[in-house]
Amino acid sequence: MIYPEQVIEEVRLRNDIVEVVSGYVKLERKGRSYWGLCPFHSEKTPSFSVEPNKQFFYCFGCNKGGSVIQFIMNIENLEFVDALKLLAERAGITLPESEDPKERERAQRRKRILELNRLAARFYFNNLVGENGLEARNYLQRRGLTEKTVRKFGLGYSPTGWDELTRMLLENKFPEDLLLDSGLSIRAKSGELIDRFRGRIMFPIFDIRGNIIGFGGRVLDGSMPKYMNSPDTPLYNKSRELYGLNYARMSSSKKLLIVEGYMDVISLHQAGIDYAVASLGTALTKMQGWILKKYSEEVIIAYDSDAAGQAATLRGLEILEEAGCNVKVLIIPEGKDPDEYVRNNGPEKFKNLIDRAISLLDYKIRVRRNMHNLDTVEDKLKLLNGIADILAEHDNPIERELYAKDYAQKYGISYESLQEEVNRRISRRNRAGDYSASVREGRGRSLAVRRDEETDTRYSELEHMLIVILCQENRLFKLISEKYGLESYKDRKAGEIARKLYRKLEENDGCVLAELVSDMDPGIASYLVRLSQTKGDIKEPEKAVRQILNRLEIMKLEDLQKQTIERIKNEQDGEIRQQLGLEFSIRAEKIAELKKMI
Ligand code: UTP
Ligand code: MN
Repeated sequence: MIYPEQVIEEVRLRNDIVEVVSGYVKLERKGRSYWGLCPFHSEKTPSFSVEPNKQFFYCFGCNKGGSVIQFIMNIENLEFVDALKLLAERAGITLPESEDPKERERAQRRKRILELNRLAARFYFNNLVGENGLEARNYLQRRGLTEKTVRKFGLGYSPTGWDELTRMLLENKFPEDLLLDSGLSIRAKSGELIDRFRGRIMFPIFDIRGNIIGFGGRVLDGSMPKYMNSPDTPLYNKSRELYGLNYARMSSSKKLLIVEGYMDVISLHQAGIDYAVASLGTALTKMQGWILKKYSEEVIIAYDSDAAGQAATLRGLEILEEAGCNVKVLIIPEGKDPDEYVRNNGPEKFKNLIDRAISLLDYKIRVRRNMHNLDTVEDKLKLLNGIADILAEHDNPIERELYAKDYAQKYGISYESLQEEVNRRISRRNRAGDYSASVREGRGRSLAVRRDEETDTRYSELEHMLIVILCQENRLFKLISEKYGLESYKDRKAGEIARKLYRKLEENDGCVLAELVSDMDPGIASYLVRLSQTKGDIKEPEKAVRQILNRLEIMKLEDLQKQTIERIKNEQDGEIRQQLGLEFSIRAEKIAELKKMI
C-alpha cells in the first residue's frame, strides 16, 4: 500500500512526538528539548533528545534520529506502513482502505459518523430556512450575514424540541451508539436519547478536506452558555482543528489570520479576507501552530484586545514562535473583535490594520509599557528592566540594538543604561550555559558519520546541509535553486531528497525537515536529523547558505583544476598545453576570489 504524501504528513502533524515518545521513554524537560535514556542502546546518562519545535528525536549516543514515524518504526520494530497505521489510529485518522479487519471497522465507523454529521447539517439547514427558522434567520440577518455566506459555511438552526434531530437520525437507521459517539445526542436521566443542541444557530466544523467533523451552536439571545461545541469524538479533537482552514488554505494570500471565534471567521471571509481561521476560543496548541506554519508564510494573530485577549495573545505568540511561525500581531482599536470591526468599518479599514500589524517584539514591549504609567522614576526603572528582559531574549544583535535605541527614545529612558541591562542579562545567561547546547556539541563532535561509500563525501555533507537549511527557511528556495539546481547535486541520495524538496517548494507547499524525513529510510533520516542537531540552530541562514554555495563552487572548480593539471601533463601539443595553462590560471584567480568571500 502506497500512501499519498498528504496522508503521511497529516499523520505526522497530528501526533506530537513528545507525547508519543513519552509513552515509551521517561522524558525530562531541559531548555527547549526533552531528554531521557535512549531506548535504542543501553546507557546510564541521558543522551536521547526530543525536540518539540522541530518534531524530531535524536540520540547523541547511537545517532538514531528522525520524525515520529521513524521513532515508531524503530521502537515497535515495524515497517513504515505499519508504523503509519499505528499513528493514524492514535490520532483518529482514517487511512485509505486497509486490510486489517479491526482497523477497517473503526474506519467504517468514522465514515458513518461523517455521514451522520452531513445528514444532521442538512437537517439544521433545512430547519433554518423552513417555517420554524424565522427568528434564527432574522438573527443572522441582523448580524450582517448574506444568504450566500450562510450557505458557504453551511449554517443551520437546531430545533427547540427535545429530540427532533435524534428521532430523525434513528429513523434513518443510525444506531444509538453512533448517535452518542457523534456527540449530537446525549442520554437523558430517563434513559432516552435527546439532542445536545437545541434552539441554537449551528456552525458545522469542517476539516481541511471539507468533511463535517463537529458542530458549534450559539444561542440567539444572551443566555448561557453562549456557545456549545461538540465534545471530542473519534473524528473531532478541538486542539487539532482550525475553523475555516478548509477555505483559508485555498486563499491566494500567503498569510493566515488567526481569530478567536466562528463569527469572526465568517464575517472576515464575507468581507473578502479569505485567509482567516479560528482557534475557537481555546488556547492555541502546538499542533495548531505546526498546521499554521505548514499553510502560511506569515501568521497574524488578531485576538480581542481586552486583558484576557492580551494574555491569550502572548501565550499564543509563544506557541506559534515555537512552532517556527513568522508571527505578527494585529491590534484592533477600541477593544472590538474582528467581526464587529469589519462590519462597522469595512474591509479596507481592516486591511489597513493588517498592514500595520506589529512584530512580536513590539507587541511584548507594548504590553509591558501598558503595565506602567511612567509618572515616577521608579516606574521608568521598572519599564527599563522589563524591556531589557524582553530584548535580552531576542536573538538578533543588530535588531536588539536598533530596538533599544528606538524604545529608549520613545519612553524617555537612557539608551546606555538599557543597553547595559540587556548585556548584563545576556552574559549572565551565557555563563549559566545552555545544557542542551553543551550536550549537543560535546557529544556530537566525536561521532563518526555513516556515509555512503560510493559518493564523494566532501560534497555530501554540504549538500545535505543545504537541504537541512532549506527545510528550516523555505524562503531561501529561490537563492538555492538558482545557484544549485538539481543537476548540481553530486551525492546521489542528497539529489533524490532535493528533488522531492524542490518539487514541494515549487508547488508553494512549504516543507519542514520532519515532513521530508517522515517516509525516508531510517538511516538517511537519522543522518539528516543529526546534521540539523549537531550543527545547531543556524542563526543567520542566508549567510550560511551563501557560504555553503561558495564552498561547493570552490570544490567544483578545484576538481576541474586537478583534471586540467592531468591533461597538461599528458598533452603533447604545446599550443593546447598553453591554452590549458591559461584556463588554469583564470580559474585559480576565480578560486582565490571565492576564498576571500568565505
Ligand atoms: P467570543 O465570546 O469572542 O465569541 O468567543 P464570538 O465569536 O465573538 O461570538 P459572538 O460574536 O458573540 O457571536 C470566541 C469563541 O470562543 C468559543 C467559541 O468558539 C467562540 O466563537 N466559545 C465562546 C465557546 O466555546 N463557548 C462560549 O461560551 C463562548
Ligand atoms: Mn463577536
